[in-house]
Amino acid sequence: MLRRTLPRLASVKDRVVDAAKQAVKGDEHFPALKGQPAARVHARESAENQAGLAAAEEEKERGGGKGKASRTVKEFQIYRWNPDSPGRPFLQSYFVDLGTCGPMVLDVLQKIKSEQDSTLVYRRSCREGICGSCSMNIDGVNTVACLKPVDTDTSRATMITPLPHMYVVKDLVVDMTNFYQQYKSVEPWLKTKRPAAEGREHAQLPAERKKLDGLYECILCACCSTACPSYWWNSEDFLGPAALLHAYRWVSDRYDALLSRICT
Ligand code: FES
Repeated sequence: MLRRTLPRLASVKDRVVDAAKQAVKGDEHFPALKGQPAARVHARESAENQAGLAAAEEEKERGGGKGKASRTVKEFQIYRWNPDSPGRPFLQSYFVDLGTCGPMVLDVLQKIKSEQDSTLVYRRSCREGICGSCSMNIDGVNTVACLKPVDTDTSRATMITPLPHMYVVKDLVVDMTNFYQQYKSVEPWLKTKRPAAEGREHAQLPAERKKLDGLYECILCACCSTACPSYWWNSEDFLGPAALLHAYRWVSDRYDALLSRICT
């Protein structure tokens, strides 16, 4: 019995150690994420969490007995509010077996919606951090659910609420009208007095292009603006970090007619 158990224990340990080693390699282990520190942190968290989950699963298999199954079942407390039903918003608990679910919080929401409660409402589209629609607050941090690894510590619940200080439409869906109008107000497109030659694009020097790094990647998820206290208190007057970032992206462009942008 001992002989059969020891190699299994070793394999779990090896997996966790391997995942940890790979995770700390950073750019080497996630070459596609080179130069993207936030994405690397997410990938690292995910690798570590999955290794921990694999260990719990294996332990569950080994134990096989009562109580072991609950090791991979986690509680998710999700904000619920329906404008058509009387009553105040509340947190509803759902229990999900992480062993039968994808690694990200959006996977958990999808699983809950398809298997437990089809009335749960949230936005999502690309499920890979491109569209910005699944932004919400997870355990106190604004983030996109499709890139947020599930915290596999099943001893504590994960709380999911809408983006803070926004008008809630239903459950996790907030009204983005003001946010998009502010984005529109900075006229986020190239305004130039020097059009490119017929049929040609504007040629840009590598150094000029480099100035735009960190400015163009924003996916308009509104996580930053809705985490900004100035935006909470003055969202009608203050454009907020996302819209200002986009404005700065265009005024930093060599071909943009800065003066005309400011004067119009
Ligand atoms: S679903 Fe598109 S960013 Fe999450």
